[in-house]
Amino acid sequence: MEKLIIEGGRRLTGVIRAEAAKNSVLPLFSASILTDRQVVIRGVPAITDVLCMAKILRELGASVRFCGGDVVIESADACCHEIPSSLTRELRSSVFMLGALLTRFRRAVIAYPGGCDIGLRPIDLHLSALKRLGVCIREREGYIHCSCDVLRGAEITLDFPSVGATENVMLAAVMAEGRTVLEGAAKEPEIVDLQRFLNAMGAKVRGAGGDIIEIEGVSTLHGADFSPVADRIEAGTYLIACAVCGGELEVEGVRAENIRLLLHKLRENGCKIHTKNDKIRIESSGRLRCNRRIETMPFPGFPTDLQAQMTALNCAARGSALIVENLFETRFKYVPELQKMGADIEVRGRSAIVRGIPRLHGASLTACDLRGGAALVVAALGAEGVSEVTELSHIDRGYADLAGKLSRIGASLRRVP
Ligand code: EPZ
Repeated sequence: MEKLIIEGGRRLTGVIRAEAAKNSVLPLFSASILTDRQVVIRGVPAITDVLCMAKILRELGASVRFCGGDVVIESADACCHEIPSSLTRELRSSVFMLGALLTRFRRAVIAYPGGCDIGLRPIDLHLSALKRLGVCIREREGYIHCSCDVLRGAEITLDFPSVGATENVMLAAVMAEGRTVLEGAAKEPEIVDLQRFLNAMGAKVRGAGGDIIEIEGVSTLHGADFSPVADRIEAGTYLIACAVCGGELEVEGVRAENIRLLLHKLRENGCKIHTKNDKIRIESSGRLRCNRRIETMPFPGFPTDLQAQMTALNCAARGSALIVENLFETRFKYVPELQKMGADIEVRGRSAIVRGIPRLHGASLTACDLRGGAALVVAALGAEGVSEVTELSHIDRGYADLAGKLSRIGASLRRVP
């Protein structure tokens, strides 16, 4: 099994260009089956979640070709509406294939996407929204069977601004009969990106990024050639790594307003942040103050996908911090690994109380989920001595060439078999 060997204590200096956002590319892959014309998605990151989504599309009969960093998808021959459980288990977020499959085939069968390392992750909001559009849903032996004669536009309200449920509604309503008004929509930049993509295909979607999204059903969608929004979570992870290690890093391609609260928190830690267009520059002495409180919230609140990385930063800072995770039940599974490095963290339900110490020390660490694994790498980069990180498959889901990118800005780390 591969592992990362990280020697902490190096300052990070240089430039990193953010990849296209994982959490935009995945729904765009779903949307690509809404047309039988060719779709090109540019600059797709080489991460395993993307490869898994490509497998799902091929399973449905679509052709998916990787050409350098671009992906060409042709789904004229797509004919299957059922996603095998092996793939749904591998990629939980395949649940937003439901909306696209219903639009394309009027039917969809997927295995119930089980919970995962960060929480139960129910899909009740997805299913109740689809029912509003006229979908008949039966759950049997762990599978969800969806069917409808026709998708009819409707007024839908989400009790919680679920990103996936918002995307499923957009994908199911885009060619429905009539108009759909979605209230309580998620406002993440990746939702705005999906709107841009669908409209590039000839859809009539507006309001993404706000509370209310309006969708006028159209009869056909044509192909598109599209460059997705930059990955604000990947970019944020590298900014946090530089804050922890000290140094000067410029991250290109991501807009400051997409990670505004992270930048605010990093300034609270004592970092200098300069932003200009789609460039963010951080300067850090490496000696940081704790954030008094970090509370994860749906966008534009503090992103849950950066919670673990910021907890790692606060472990080796002056003072103490209260971290509250409001989105997922068990998104502190990485804490015992940080405690091996000397971190003083006490988890109580959805909160973690961090008492900062001058420095963590290296240890043998095991990644247990995507962002928790990234947090262990961040902690190891700033720690005294050498750390090892195993179970890298979690990290490979969402970070392309993490070791190469960090090495090129000064980190001392090696990926060894
Ligand atoms: C998306 O997951 C992201 N994944 C997650 O990123 C991200 O953490 C999350 O949004 C929140 O921002 C992708 O975009 C592929 P949700 P999603 O539906 O859509 C509850 C990463 O690390 N909920 O907004 O699954 C749910 O339990 C991943 O890149 C219901 O109760 O998130 C959770 O508490 C991890 N019922 C909250 O809403 C539902 O039907 C947020 O879930 C749906 C969700």
